[in-house]
Formats: sequence, structure tokens, C-alpha cells
Amino acid sequence: MPKLKAENLHKPVLLTETIELLKPQAGEIFVDATLGLGGHSEVVLADFAQTQIVGIDQDAEAVELARERLEKFGKRVRIFQANFSEVTQVLGDAKIDKVNGVLADLGVSSLQFDSATRGFSFRFDAPLDMRMDADADTETAAELLETLSEFEIARIIYEYGEEKFSRKIARRIIERRERGEPIKTTIELALLVEKVVRRSKKDKIHPATRTFQALRIAVNRELEILERFIRDAVNILKKDGRLAVITFHSLEDRIVKQTLQKLAGKCFCPPRLPQCVCGASREIEILTRKPIVPSEAETEENPRARSAKLRACLKLS
Ligand SMILES: C[S@@+](CC[C@H](N)C(=O)[O-])C[C@H]1O[C@@H](n2cnc3c(N)ncnc32)[C@H](O)[C@@H]1O
Ligand SMILES: [Zn+2]
Repeated sequence: MPKLKAENLHKPVLLTETIELLKPQAGEIFVDATLGLGGHSEVVLADFAQTQIVGIDQDAEAVELARERLEKFGKRVRIFQANFSEVTQVLGDAKIDKVNGVLADLGVSSLQFDSATRGFSFRFDAPLDMRMDADADTETAAELLETLSEFEIARIIYEYGEEKFSRKIARRIIERRERGEPIKTTIELALLVEKVVRRSKKDKIHPATRTFQALRIAVNRELEILERFIRDAVNILKKDGRLAVITFHSLEDRIVKQTLQKLAGKCFCPPRLPQCVCGASREIEILTRKPIVPSEAETEENPRARSAKLRACLKLS
């Protein structure tokens, strides 16, 4: 088999737009909190003299491929296999206090989604795993389906997948469990969903897409850690430092939008409270009043960019 090369595996989304917002200057330090295959970081390193990158990814395979790709930049790059919820610790380990910019390009990479063995996609028959950190001691998607209640399964599929047939899908999953035949593989789940969800002619995506997305978000706790991460990322910025975040899901975008609004001073407390308890304070200026979305040309060339939204802010003091 030909050797895998990072640059052929994943096209960076909203690349020009992200660089325009991060505005790298020679010699500056950036954290790439979702290094993936290093696509965004490579452009920062190649186009802006003496910039440095601290790259974080929880996926060991991505880390290995990004290391190879970015090797040519030598000591300007340091890569850590970690969850970005540990970004403050990672910077401490790298003996860096504050940085000029942070980038997070959330969700899965094509390396993960196109893997035939990791269970992210029903295009391949594989164990239903979906952990981005395959070495972690956390539950796989199959384990969640084997242990959660019918109500919890339905909630996850409804909330994270916006799937109208969530309760029926959950019922079928539980029925299989009760028969002693729990769902173990991607294909088993895709077939089960296909039988429950009627496909309308308008539907461009496979009926199981929403359920798979929902499980992936649950397995990796993608929404739970996001607000905390945005706050940590703003904390580690120097004055005039910039944070850019790319999301692929409306719930993710809402968390990013509201957290940035809070950090920009907007109060989210109910009107009758005598004083603010939501933690609003003016630490940043929002640089994107509306999220930036990909051009038609980009989505045509790279369908994965379809739902991308980019928001950014500037640290005030
Ligand atoms: C969309 S890809 C990034 C692609 C990258 N910008 C590029 O151009 O090659 C997202 C990456 O973030 C990683 N990731 C997602 N959530 C993470 C988390 N909480 N901590 C660390 N890495 C995470 C995934 O493993 C994946 O490799
Ligand atoms: Zn408040």
C-alpha cells in the first residue's frame, strides 16, 4: 500500500479566511488546538517568517502524520497528543506563558471520517467505535448503545443529530439489546436506521448520517468541553492576540457565539436578577459580527466544508 501523506488526506477548510483573521506576524506563536493533518498550521509556518506553532490533537494517528508533514520547520513546531481541554497545561509543559493566536477547527478530519476501521462512517463495515482518541479509556459508540437508557439514546440522537425519528431509532436499538443482539458495527446501525427513517426524495444525505453524527458528538463529549475551552483559549492570549474557531454543527456554533458574546461583555442573566451571575466581562472584541462561511467554490470542491462557520475575536488587555 502507498504510504499515507498528510497533505493528501484532508483539505483545510476556510483557509484564507482563517489566516486573514489570525493575521500572523513574523516571529509570533500560535496554538493550533486541533492540529489534525496540519493543513492550517503549515500555511502559517510557510508564509510567515519565524512563526511558531504549538500543535495539539487527541488522535495519535493525526499527530504522527502531522509530525512528518511539519518536520521541515524544525524547532518552530512542537506537537502534543492531548485533548484541547488541557490547553493551559500543554502550554505550561511547553514553557510558554501567552500566545499571539489560537486556532480551533472542530469536528473530525477526513483521516478519521475516511478510515475503514475506526467506525466514524457507515461506508465501511467496522466496529462502532468513533473515539477520536483511540487509546483513551472512554466508552465507544457501541458501548454507549449497550449501556445508556432508551430515553438517553433518543435524547442524544434528537439533540445532537436533529433527527425526527430519534425515539423510534432508540426503541429499535433497545429491542435488539433485549434480544441479546446489541449493535456492534457501523453497518448494523446504518441498516437499523434505514429501516426506521423514511427517506424523502429531497433528502440529499443518507438517513443514518444524522444518527452517526449525534453518536460521534456524544462519544467525544464535543459540546461539553467547548465553552471551557473558548475561555481557556482567550485566557492564554496576549493583548491583541486572536482566536479563530471553525465549527461544523449549529449547536457548536451557538456555544461559540454565546461564549464570545459573554466574553465581550454581554450579560445572559434573566432580567429579574439583581446582579450579573453569568460571568459576563469585557475581555474581547468580536471580529465576526456574523460567522464567515465558505464560498460556493469551496463547498463545490470540498463538500465537507458545507456546514463550516468561522468566528473570531481579539483580546483586549
Ligand atoms: C477538522 S480536523 C482539523 C484539520 C486541520 N485544521 C488541518 O487543516 O489539517 C479536527 C481535528 O481535531 C481533533 N480534535 C477534535 N476534538 C479535539 C479535542 N477535544 N482535543 C484535541 N483534538 C481534538 C480531531 O482529532 C481532528 O484531528
Ligand atoms: Zn449576567
